[in-house]
Amino acid sequence: MARKWLEADADRTLPVVSPVDGSVIGGVHEYTHDEIDQVFATAQRARARWSARPLTERTDLLHRFADLLAENAAEVADVLMMEVAKACKDAKDEVVRSADYIRHTAEDAKRIIGETQFSDSYPGQARNKLAVVHRVPLGTVLAIPPFNYPVNLAVSKIAPALVTGNAVVLKPPSQGALSALMMCELAYQVGIPPEVLQVVTGRGSRIGDYLVQHPGVDLITFTGSSQTGADLARKAGMVPLLLELGGKDPAIVLGDADLDAAASDIVAGAFSYSGQRCTAVKRVLVIDSVADDLVAKIVERTARLTVGDPRSNAQITPLVDPESAAGAERMTKDAVAAGAVLVHGGGRDGNLVQPTVVDHVTEEMDLAWVEPFAPVLPVIRVRSAAEAIRLANRSEYGLQAAIFTNDIDIAIQIAARLDVGTVQVNGRTARGPDHFPFLGTKASGMGTQGVRPSIEAMTRVKSLVVNLREKDLTTSV
Ligand code: NAP
Ligand code: G3P
Repeated sequence: MARKWLEADADRTLPVVSPVDGSVIGGVHEYTHDEIDQVFATAQRARARWSARPLTERTDLLHRFADLLAENAAEVADVLMMEVAKACKDAKDEVVRSADYIRHTAEDAKRIIGETQFSDSYPGQARNKLAVVHRVPLGTVLAIPPFNYPVNLAVSKIAPALVTGNAVVLKPPSQGALSALMMCELAYQVGIPPEVLQVVTGRGSRIGDYLVQHPGVDLITFTGSSQTGADLARKAGMVPLLLELGGKDPAIVLGDADLDAAASDIVAGAFSYSGQRCTAVKRVLVIDSVADDLVAKIVERTARLTVGDPRSNAQITPLVDPESAAGAERMTKDAVAAGAVLVHGGGRDGNLVQPTVVDHVTEEMDLAWVEPFAPVLPVIRVRSAAEAIRLANRSEYGLQAAIFTNDIDIAIQIAARLDVGTVQVNGRTARGPDHFPFLGTKASGMGTQGVRPSIEAMTRVKSLVVNLREKDLTTSV
């Protein structure tokens, strides 16, 4: 595989430094505005031919892309692991999951059908018009994924866009650009035209505004922080948006819950990939009567987590940047200074934050509301399910929530009152499986992802109305 961006003489306008060991693992070009204009002009020229190809040609190409990605999973995962400090097994799993995503999208796209309508189903209308309603591609899709899933969250945008006949301009995260470039290289190798899958590298803070305001954009699918997403939405203008943003997912634990199962799910949900997941469990709202037992079980499991180098498959690995690590440490110290109790962790060595559990957090503390994107878990004690619902909904975020209880009636009643995209009952908050709808309310996003919703979001309805004229059938026509 050509890996020019990893070679010593690579264009290093933007060196990629590994958070694992501080080494320079590659370099990418920072696109200029003129170059970005060229990219969109190329996409505009190429997409008509791409969308005119039979759907089964596009799906075959996607299947070949998925197969080659799976074959090269180890190589792509090695770069991904070093780029974003993701444990080697998780990095490999991400690439394999991405191949599965592509395959499922290709197959689902074949089952998108339209509908027909006759006019006389509407009052006062004769049966003289037939609407043939179908879906067409939007044009050029600007895809902007975040660092924490640089392959999977790129693929979750690229696959539905390409299979429906759009052209894609991908702006990968700066920390994750190498993995994204390797992935796209594989797409080109199987025959996906480079003109319909172009990668624009460069810091989002420097080229992002020019990209999102470009007249060549027909849809923006963005995954990242709520702050960046909201800023982007204000600047994008009249362009459809698909935004998957931040979260502060609560795990609500009721008095009748299976505390061992809840503790295991909470620890896995809070600390996998060092808490750098939008759907991580980012606060526990536990009924007072079982709080001591639950916290003890959470601490027992947290203490068993391995901490260190992703190359040795440690469960807690360095955060992607020192600012996140310092922010998490500061929020923890502030909460303890305000009366919370540090029951595990709290330490930091550079980007490496110890898995941290903070008990007796109150709603006066930032840790109750701010998304640290780090392995820090606040525990808030509540007196009732009603109080848990109030605190859950008070958050600016509405991505997911988890409810742990043995009473399905109560679980359904609570779920109905939570202003979130997804409620997990007796399970940790998570996006997968990837064909499930994935969405956030409030500051957590706009629109719905997942295989089928993403395919629909990257297309629009087109209606062909045939005006029918009554003909005399008795004559020889
Ligand atoms: P981020 O800083 O918002 O960056 C996300 C993407 O946007 C990156 O590719 C980034 O490029 C780009 N970007 C930055 N500034 C931009 C601008 N002005 N215009 C256009 N693009 C811009 O988020 P992150 O640090 O990568 O990811 C962490 C955040 O994303 C967390 O809040 C997390 O909750 C959220 N997230 C949400 C989901 C979800 O599905 N809901 C999934 C993953 C992460 P650069 O890398 O070059 O800055
Ligand atoms: O933060 C990435 C988001 O998509 C979470 O994915 O599968 O880890 O819940 P997952």
